[in-house]
Amino acid sequence: MCGIVGYVGPRPSQDILLAGLARLEYRGYDSAGVAVIDGEGSLGMRKKAGKLSALRDSLADAALADGNTGIGHTRWATHGGPTDVNAHPHLADDDRLALIHNGIIENFASLRDELAASGVAFRSETDTEVAAALLGREYRSNGGDLQLAFRSVVNRLEGAFTLLAMHQDHPGLVVGARRNSPLVIGLGEGENFLGSDVAAFVEHTRKALAIGQDQIVSITPDAVTVTDFAGTPVEAEPFDISWDAAAAEKGGWPSFMAKEVAEQPEAVANTIRGRIQGDQVIIPELDGLDELFTGINRVIITACGTASYAALVGKYAIEQWARVPVDVELAHEFRYRDPVIGDDTLVVSISQSGETMDTLMAVKYARERGARTLSICNTQGATIPRESDAVVYTHAGPEVAVASTKAFSAQITALLLLGLHMGRVRGTVQDAATDVEELTSLPDKVAKVLETEQEHVSQLASWMADTRSVLFLGRHVGYPIALEGALKLKEISYIHAEGFAAGELKHGPIALIEPGQPVFVLVPSPRHSALVHSKVVSNIQEIRARGARVIVVAEEGDAAVLPFADEVIRIPLAGAMFEPLLGVVPLQIFAMALATAKGLDVDQPRNLAKSVTVE
Ligand code: M6R
Repeated sequence: MCGIVGYVGPRPSQDILLAGLARLEYRGYDSAGVAVIDGEGSLGMRKKAGKLSALRDSLADAALADGNTGIGHTRWATHGGPTDVNAHPHLADDDRLALIHNGIIENFASLRDELAASGVAFRSETDTEVAAALLGREYRSNGGDLQLAFRSVVNRLEGAFTLLAMHQDHPGLVVGARRNSPLVIGLGEGENFLGSDVAAFVEHTRKALAIGQDQIVSITPDAVTVTDFAGTPVEAEPFDISWDAAAAEKGGWPSFMAKEVAEQPEAVANTIRGRIQGDQVIIPELDGLDELFTGINRVIITACGTASYAALVGKYAIEQWARVPVDVELAHEFRYRDPVIGDDTLVVSISQSGETMDTLMAVKYARERGARTLSICNTQGATIPRESDAVVYTHAGPEVAVASTKAFSAQITALLLLGLHMGRVRGTVQDAATDVEELTSLPDKVAKVLETEQEHVSQLASWMADTRSVLFLGRHVGYPIALEGALKLKEISYIHAEGFAAGELKHGPIALIEPGQPVFVLVPSPRHSALVHSKVVSNIQEIRARGARVIVVAEEGDAAVLPFADEVIRIPLAGAMFEPLLGVVPLQIFAMALATAKGLDVDQPRNLAKSVTVE
């Protein structure tokens, strides 16, 4: 949940660290800090509560002596509130050693007691300072070998952590380690980088190394060494970063979210590219892995938040095409009961970041119980794909705004591809020509919704800036979109929003309807099922009769909704499984415009972080 960056090389490190933190700020923005070993071999440190701008202002007021070795951190608070003192880095060994951390050290209380008993005085409430103090003690007791001391520390820690540390007696050396928390290496010319993800250093290099679970890395300007926690050298897996720094810039858009919403046609197109051959869906990464899909009698899709709503769409698609039962499980609930899984189960995980701890733990749990695992992920080199038997990457490009938009569309696209691929392998889809045509026309249709509805929906949102509650209804694949519409609104505009299955309304939630209550209704096409369409139109009548203000999202030409709608948002005609990709776009625009009308920061909503790497 925190962002971490490290640098060693010939250049002054402060600007490199700050630029890296700016790209990682989406991971947490409760505080930020940097530590640098200057040309004199002294360690300087500055940290401030609040967003990165507070740290920048502080450095502008009183500069820190610069040097060529540094570490930087942006925090999402877990242990201890978002204060200056709890911000990272934390210092030890008479302030000659600095350490930063992402994750939760579960045994910090007993370590803290042990260190306190030996006379260590703590300044903060964090678990991180305990790791720093432990490193200081180990460093002194083993005669000043930073790498050895670091290894001994990581072997004593329990929980999830990425740690970076440096000591002023060792300029030109940054050590790092990871357990269940992300860390990647950036390879430069005469300089090297560490980062929570490649965004930390993509403007300097597109060559990277992925570090495995329970591994330690040391970087100097000319060398990178990776070992396991026992000190045995291991090969890190090289990969090239497929996007450039510009992809992670706002590029003139008012927010990352606005840019990412607009990038959806491209995200969908990039996710489809290379995966259609003739009128068949063939995902090359799954070549030779047919056994993942044959011989199973059950699929479980596991994910959190927005990704779990994509999973619900995936349930409909995979069941329809691959004719195998599919359950969707929230990852954080999955392993805390005793799910019935085994080698006849395929567990599909979905994660934009590939680092969500709840999802990662669900994947590990599934593997331990013999299930086959496949992940759908947007981040190369991330942990979840590395822990899975197979991966289908979404190619949405970097998603920076906390509220997921283009990654959601790319996840649904990947699930549609997976459903058709599985159907072909299992022999349940004989002719995919119509669906392939639907798939390939999707990017243009998404672009059309953006073009035709952006202004209309934004205006609607600005009129509704004082609204205190919005409801969303959908049926069939419209139901997950109703849930997603409500989540988008909650997370960035802080107003009460709920999504319901339209048929469920009469079983309770209809009591919420009072005159003027805004309700978005996703209306499925009558061309797919006249029956389902007519049921939704009846649901609209029921809420209208009780005074709801009804905003309908319906396909072009559907006139049946007109008599009962206060507003109609139109989407192009599409096949039943493909409608979610169109229906979600106006809901994303609505949430973004409403939050903007309220003067809120749509990219960095309060209390949230992009990547949730704690359970
Ligand atoms: O990186 P992941 O896709 O695993 O993240 C899962 C959720 O934390 C994420 O989708 C979250 O719900 C978003 N902020 C929603 O916009």
